[in-house]
Amino acid sequence: MKKTLSAIMAVLMVVAGASAFAGGSKDSGKITIGANIYNFADNFMNGVMKPELERYAAEKGAKIEIVDSEGQQAKLNDQIDVFITKKVSVLAINLVDPAAAKTIIEKAKKANIPLVLFNKEATETGAMASYDKVWYVGTNSAESGIIQGEMMLADWKANPSWDKNKDGVVQYVMLKGEPGHPDAEARTKYSVKVFTDAGIKVQQLALEADPNWSTQHGNDKMAAWLTSSFAKDIELVICNNDGMAFGAINALKAAGVKLPLYGVDALDQALSHIAAGEMNGTVLNDGVNQARATLDLAINAAMAKPVTEGTAWKLAADGTKAVRVPYVAVTPKNYKDFQKK
Ligand code: GAL
Ligand code: CA
Repeated sequence: MKKTLSAIMAVLMVVAGASAFAGGSKDSGKITIGANIYNFADNFMNGVMKPELERYAAEKGAKIEIVDSEGQQAKLNDQIDVFITKKVSVLAINLVDPAAAKTIIEKAKKANIPLVLFNKEATETGAMASYDKVWYVGTNSAESGIIQGEMMLADWKANPSWDKNKDGVVQYVMLKGEPGHPDAEARTKYSVKVFTDAGIKVQQLALEADPNWSTQHGNDKMAAWLTSSFAKDIELVICNNDGMAFGAINALKAAGVKLPLYGVDALDQALSHIAAGEMNGTVLNDGVNQARATLDLAINAAMAKPVTEGTAWKLAADGTKAVRVPYVAVTPKNYKDFQKK
């Protein structure tokens, strides 16, 4: 019985494989994808990833439904139950709480539905290994912090006037994203580690985190720092993402202060701020390719094919079942290459 079944499966898989991937196969037309964004209020997730998930699903001829989890993990758990009841072919999930992946993986496993997690990597040990049909699409979080740090270090060295008090130490403020989010933790750590690794001392004057990575947070915290006792000591503003950087820029403008400032994501607005000399650099977080990889893997998984088959994606060699899309430095020299033509 087992033998016959696997023989039939093998034939089916060859047939499915023969219809290929380029331009959307006939098979993918029957695929329904249940997806979410952890919070539609997030600039990067709503502005870059969501539109490309919709566009690329349409290009592939697959049906996608994307719901807003409104920053609530409990809401996402319910949304998964609804997708399972609707019998979606595959789940593409952006965790709200990176430490709550196990619950979702268990639900998918029980329903035997493949699951692609994207953007927020599961932090619970053993979560990814607990189901053979779960994969991750995101980045190597540390890379964004290192690239941001390298840009800042090069500019710091090239601009001796940035060391306002001439003590050789970088007095910085940090706008951090969601505590516990691998991207936020790694960017916060590695951006300044680049300085200390190069033998340059740093001093953190203030750090404030926001689970929603929001412009409002950036504005409010920067405004408060600019009226604090250490206001005149600030030499560098480090932002875990562009959304918070935009808020900091508003606050700086309102106070009539100019400071070196860096973000991550390379949103269109960030490129305009670089053009206007209001931002010194950002790091491309390639949401377009992350969205495409998410759906390529999801569609393959729904068709019971090896997830990267017929695609340009490769699973990382570290056994994490992850596709990691590279980050790219965006500076006043090359930002034009990233602007939409
Ligand atoms: C990061 C991104 C942030 C925010 C966050 C949400 O990768 O840089 O701007 O969108 O994801 O999880
Ligand atoms: Ca200094």
